[in-house]
Amino acid sequence: MEKLWGGRFEGKSEPWIESFGASISIDQKMAQEDITGSIAHVKMLGKTGILTAEEVSEILRGLKQLEMKLQSGKVTFSEQNEDIHLNIEKLLHDEIGPLAGKMHTARSRNDQVATDMHLYLKNKVHEIIQEIKRFKQILLTQAEENITTIMPGYTHLQHAQPISFAHHLLAYHAMLTRDVERFFENLNRIDKSPLGACALAGTTFPIDPKYTAALLGLKDIYHNSLDAVSDRDFIVEFLSNSALIMMHLSRLAEEMILWTSHEFQFITLSDAYTTGSSIMPQKKNPDMAELIRGKTGRVYGNLVSLLTTLKALPLAYNKDMQEDKEGMFDTAETVLSCLKIFSSMAKEMKVNHETMIQATQKDFSNATELADYLAKKGIPFRSAHEMVGKLVLSCVKRGIYLQDVTLAEYQTLSPLITADVYQALRSETAVLKRSSYGGTGFRQIEEMIVLLKKKES
Ligand code: ARG
Repeated sequence: MEKLWGGRFEGKSEPWIESFGASISIDQKMAQEDITGSIAHVKMLGKTGILTAEEVSEILRGLKQLEMKLQSGKVTFSEQNEDIHLNIEKLLHDEIGPLAGKMHTARSRNDQVATDMHLYLKNKVHEIIQEIKRFKQILLTQAEENITTIMPGYTHLQHAQPISFAHHLLAYHAMLTRDVERFFENLNRIDKSPLGACALAGTTFPIDPKYTAALLGLKDIYHNSLDAVSDRDFIVEFLSNSALIMMHLSRLAEEMILWTSHEFQFITLSDAYTTGSSIMPQKKNPDMAELIRGKTGRVYGNLVSLLTTLKALPLAYNKDMQEDKEGMFDTAETVLSCLKIFSSMAKEMKVNHETMIQATQKDFSNATELADYLAKKGIPFRSAHEMVGKLVLSCVKRGIYLQDVTLAEYQTLSPLITADVYQALRSETAVLKRSSYGGTGFRQIEEMIVLLKKKES
């Protein structure tokens, strides 16, 4: 078949080599963006008088026709036409004849492909932001229902101090808030039109790139044509933001996997997010949480892959850059599906309040309470720490906990200790009293939830 760029060539191309160079199997995902970009470009060519009004209306008719066919799934692409841009041009040619060739005036596939990616990513980032917001909403609702649910707070995965489960969930809420901020920040760079840069150096035609950008709903244009066609920073940034949010999701996934285990039993996941075993009848595996944790790997991979592709590329466009799309598509789809699954999984999870609080009662997570109790009675905190440490050791040897130590024994330790020590040792008291700003105290959390709800409404 004749190539759209075939003029300069004498030799025939080999199908298997063509196939290596083709990207249509991947970039057909941007068919709609490609048509949208062309519609705007052609309108600009009309406005500036580069094409006549009749030519413009005929090309637009063809493009709209093609758009309808695309939306009803009636379009087939071919590998001989290499990529989405040449395929669309060829299909337009089938629709309206040689006039289709005028569409590419004052444009190159280099600014065209970059425009398609800006348009694609702008939509996806907006979708991702919406999904993060939905997930945050669910976390906030779960937090509101669990203000007084007490669980062990961990450091080094060892019981540290009792905390409210709501506090734990709100920590993830805070991470996701940063993710939203980062994606919005990313949009400043995505929301730009490279159209008009042409192959690399601009054009001799009297184009109006600001007009094209406005038609595409893009906020700004590039100010250097070489940069416009070779910039992929906005994708790297997107992949990096995605890697970060996946890291957050995988941390929560990991915690949920632990919490559903027999050792913890802090939460129960609804059956829909778990699977059984083909041999062990009792199994209920947290597959969806595991998969989210697992998919983090491919998203990290996509980031490293693009950075490596771009490393040391001379300006401007190089064919290497064709490799920029697969990881971008894959990342957008992965992040979106992980967020959707996680939202409904978190919404439906059952919190086992009793098991959680019990876990704070057969442990020494109240040791800081005793040290604080002594410090408040005037003993320097370091000495209090030392005294409690020794007491913990002796309790461990005797197989008892701090709340089992008799008042008589406490008073041999320090006459300052009175019967109210037992109240101080309760995990409810420990949580209630941590009322410093941003702490786990019930009042703190209540106030924080009110604040967050106000911010997000
Ligand atoms: N398929 C190409 C890509 O994705 C489009 C740009 C091609 N430009 C060129 N000069 N070969 O990067």
